Amino acid sequence: QYNPLEIVRQSIRTIHDWPKPGVDFRDITPVLQDPRCFRMLIDIFISRYMRQGLDLVAGVDARGFIIGSVIAYELNLGFVPIRKKGKLPFETVGEDYNLEYGSATVEIHTDAVKPGQRILLIDDLIATGGTMLAASRLLRRLGANVVEAAAIIDLPALGGSKLIRESGLNVKTLYE
Ligand code: PRP
Ligand code: HPA
Repeated sequence: QYNPLEIVRQSIRTIHDWPKPGVDFRDITPVLQDPRCFRMLIDIFISRYMRQGLDLVAGVDARGFIIGSVIAYELNLGFVPIRKKGKLPFETVGEDYNLEYGSATVEIHTDAVKPGQRILLIDDLIATGGTMLAASRLLRRLGANVVEAAAIIDLPALGGSKLIRESGLNVKTLYE
């Protein structure tokens, strides 16, 4: 029987030992490449987020842009990019987060959201949760109401989705 969630799942591939030995990298490019799968993936999110009174979709650099902008377009909402440091031209605020070695910073334009706006935060994958947490801190600093943090894939063994929930955010992922 027709099961879009299962069809999309079968198009996500795992690349062993990439980008380094021991890592099983979850690769969504086959989903994006197939028009039927791409549409199914987007429609899964659309059916969840239609009629939720959202004001904006915020996507995280870089893979959160690919699905976040399409979800925003389909919901008739605006899209806000949360970018790696040094990419946004107007006035920004930034939040640091830890990587396995060292740290990174994400930034948002200070005028990207208005206080009280209801935001859907989107990325492709939650690993340690550092990226999504830093993104949500940015939105909250600007006074936004982050309705949900959503991703295609969760890697629960890395504990990120649990940390994000403990920060008080709703989290939705489609696959583990
Ligand atoms: C990946 C992924 C998420 C983040 C998840 O992006 O797309 O944004 O890592 O990891 P975390 O939960 O441990 O923070 P990456 O930083 O590799 O950047 P890219 O999208 O530019 O490749
Ligand atoms: N896939 C994609 N992005 C990632 C992964 C992964 O397995 N782990 C950390 N970021």
